Amino acid sequence: MSGLARFGVSLEERLLESFDQAIAKKGYIKRSEAIRDLIRAFLVEQEWEEGEETVGTVTIVYDHSLRELPDALIEFQHSHFTSIISTLHVHLDQHNCLEVAVIKGKSSEIREIADRLIGMKGVKHGKLCMATTGRAIS
Ligand code: NI
Repeated sequence: MSGLARFGVSLEERLLESFDQAIAKKGYIKRSEAIRDLIRAFLVEQEWEEGEETVGTVTIVYDHSLRELPDALIEFQHSHFTSIISTLHVHLDQHNCLEVAVIKGKSSEIREIADRLIGMKGVKHGKLCMATTGRAIS
C-alpha cells in the first residue's frame, strides 16, 4: 500500500455543512472517509467510461402480466446474447418481477442496451450499475 497524502480544499461553508449533514446520514464518522469514497467512485466511473471491454448490470422491475413485455424482454435479450451474458429473474410477488442482466462490452454499448431495457414500455424502474476491476483505485 502506498503512503498517505494530505491536501487542503477550500469551499463555501454552506456547501461543506450540507456535505457533512449528508455524509452523517450515511453513517460516515470521518469526512476524509467520505471524500475517499467519492474519489474512488469517480475513478471507477472514469475507468468504466474509458474501458475497451467492461461490464455492468442492469436491474429492472416490471409487471409480467403486461401482455407484450415479457416476450419483448426475452426477444431483446436473445438478440443481444453476445453482450447480455447472464440474467437473474426473481418473482417479487403475484405480478412483479425483478430482473438483473449482466452486460459485457464497450461502455457505450452497455449504456445503450441498458437504456433500451429500462425504456421498455411497462418497465417500472431500472438502473445501470457500472462495474470495473478497479485498476484505477488499487
Ligand atoms: Ni417473475
